[in-house]
Amino acid sequence: MARNVIIDCDTGMDDAVALLLALRSPEFNVLGITCVNGNVGLDNVVHNTLRVVEQSGKHVPVYAGARSALLVAPDENASKVHGSDGLGGIPLPEPHNKVEKEHAIDFIVRIFMDAKEPMDWITIGPMTNAALALRKEPRIVEKIRLLTMMAGGVDSGNTRPMSEFNVFADPDAARIIFDSDIPKMMVPLDPLFNGGYLKWSDQQKIKAVSDKPWCNLAGMIFDVTHEVVHKLGRKQVNEEGAISPPDLLAVAAAIDPSIMKIENYQIQIETRGEFTRGMTVVDRRKYHRGEANPGRKEVAVVLEADQQKYAALVVNTWLA
Ligand code: BDR
Repeated sequence: MARNVIIDCDTGMDDAVALLLALRSPEFNVLGITCVNGNVGLDNVVHNTLRVVEQSGKHVPVYAGARSALLVAPDENASKVHGSDGLGGIPLPEPHNKVEKEHAIDFIVRIFMDAKEPMDWITIGPMTNAALALRKEPRIVEKIRLLTMMAGGVDSGNTRPMSEFNVFADPDAARIIFDSDIPKMMVPLDPLFNGGYLKWSDQQKIKAVSDKPWCNLAGMIFDVTHEVVHKLGRKQVNEEGAISPPDLLAVAAAIDPSIMKIENYQIQIETRGEFTRGMTVVDRRKYHRGEANPGRKEVAVVLEADQQKYAALVVNTWLA
């Protein structure tokens, strides 16, 4: 039976393909999508999300949430990667659907408190909405089966040497979530370089489909991603022609964690460091691990993906 899930996003290009995977997956019943300021400003995020949902062929309500980080607005967003509109300027038709009137925080609290069974939650943007919802109604913790987050880095960051964008953009919010008892799975940057990518040939299978709008959109996003990687002069870390959209991997991990290598660690969020604000401090010490914080819950951390199974999941879901 499909699992109920809600998704919090800052639609950007990799959020877009991640949403298309969740919306087309038979494993998920997406009850709503909440938008947060992040890759670009909230108005663009909402507009992008509505346009992406429209291309998925599904009808799912979209909610607007936080317009800025909890305490300190970061000094940059991710428009140099995702373009000023957040979707790389890809021309998409205007959506027929409108954003819901209910605020995202109220929706998140309502959907969890009304849930008969604990359900899934996925965040693929900064955790501002998630933290505000938890502060508004701490009892949602008991209604969360698993929160899957595209967040952090074990070995290194991206926006800063040790800070990944989603955590860097609102470390105070991330800290609230990581300090909570919510059962969590973190999909950091590390698995993107360890199997969590789509080969050129995987992308071509999706681009070859002409009668499914979600494949068309994914194909356009792949094209723009290649252009951006080239423009930014980024090193080809995986094999030639491969791309690794972080949020897509997070949704795949939420759908099927069995195709990932996962280890459990205590994690703290650095909110003050001179060079490390927004760092996910993963306690991987060989000795003394966990001694500093005896009762703290561990987070399941995705370290590697089985590339073939990951690509098959994405391709099969979209081509079905
Ligand atoms: C994350 O940051 C954003 O730019 C992407 O959408 C992804 O969620 C990767 O660090």
